[in-house]
Amino acid sequence: MSSVRARLRSRSPRLSLPGSTCLVTGASGGLGATIARRLHREGARLVVSGRRVDELTSLAAELGDGTAVVAADLARLEDVRRLARDSGGVDILVANAGLPANGELADLSVDDIARAVDINVRSTLVLTRLLVPRMLDQGAGHVLLIGSLAGLAPTPRSSVYNASKFALRGFGHALREELRGTGVGVSLVSPTFVSDTGMWADTGVRAAHREATPGQVAEACVSAIRKNRAEVLVAPPDQRLGVRLAGLFPELMQPALRSSVVPPEAVAAQKSKR
Ligand SMILES: NC(=O)c1ccc[n+]([C@@H]2O[C@H](COP(=O)([O-])OP(=O)(O)OC[C@H]3O[C@@H](n4cnc5c(N)ncnc54)[C@H](OP(=O)(O)O)[C@@H]3O)[C@@H](O)[C@H]2O)c1
Repeated sequence: MSSVRARLRSRSPRLSLPGSTCLVTGASGGLGATIARRLHREGARLVVSGRRVDELTSLAAELGDGTAVVAADLARLEDVRRLARDSGGVDILVANAGLPANGELADLSVDDIARAVDINVRSTLVLTRLLVPRMLDQGAGHVLLIGSLAGLAPTPRSSVYNASKFALRGFGHALREELRGTGVGVSLVSPTFVSDTGMWADTGVRAAHREATPGQVAEACVSAIRKNRAEVLVAPPDQRLGVRLAGLFPELMQPALRSSVVPPEAVAAQKSKR
């Protein structure tokens, strides 16, 4: 009992959102921009990143308050290093950039697979490695990884995306334990299909089950950082239960995951994002 209490105590974050500097990758995209706006409302100073400078510049103009833009192509290691260097003192990393990389394995090129792994996985691991030492020095900081229910539940036509999100999930939980007690928190926010904006909404296809809203994802990010939560699944309760069970019994749970399979028309619509 006392060790459980000690673990819960070590969860208390030493970080306050107001006044902290927060780097959001993929801030030119649907969910990243929503998360950046929400963190700004909490009083954080934002550094927004992505490749599309026009989107980032207009988001920075909207937010004001010294929001900085650092353009970077996360497929390039030198850009990842430069992003870490040019972002200034980052207290909170929101690693949100990602590609859908959906489709049958044989329909993805070797370059598609390499790019998905570089952006969804490698860039996040490297960026975290470069930003965490300063957080450790000051005894406060947070790494927030945007995962997905695809990080718990494997489904056909998503094997490479599943692989990337399973990898992020393993990284996040392992690093969280490694950094326990240092004042640096690590959380995962893992949404189901999200409505209105982002890589799923852009397909124009609607999910067979209830979708999450971008606002719910942003709210989960704030809650995860404030309370240093290990993982927040942003999905209705039945889906949360289904993917948890799928993590334990992947084969057995496939029939229950049918509504989470990305349909061919959505794969086709996401091809341009490979
Ligand atoms: N939307 C959903 O239903 C959903 C559900 C679960 C999880 N997620 C996760 O949520 C995160 C955000 O996705 P989203 O829905 O907002 O998708 P999105 O609208 O397609 O945005 C993706 C973002 O990633 C950035 N990005 C892509 N390639 C990049 C590269 N080479 N270098 C730097 N940045 C790059 C894009 O910026 P540029 O194009 O400017 O480079 C964009 O800002 C992803 O990690 C995704 O896996 C999304």
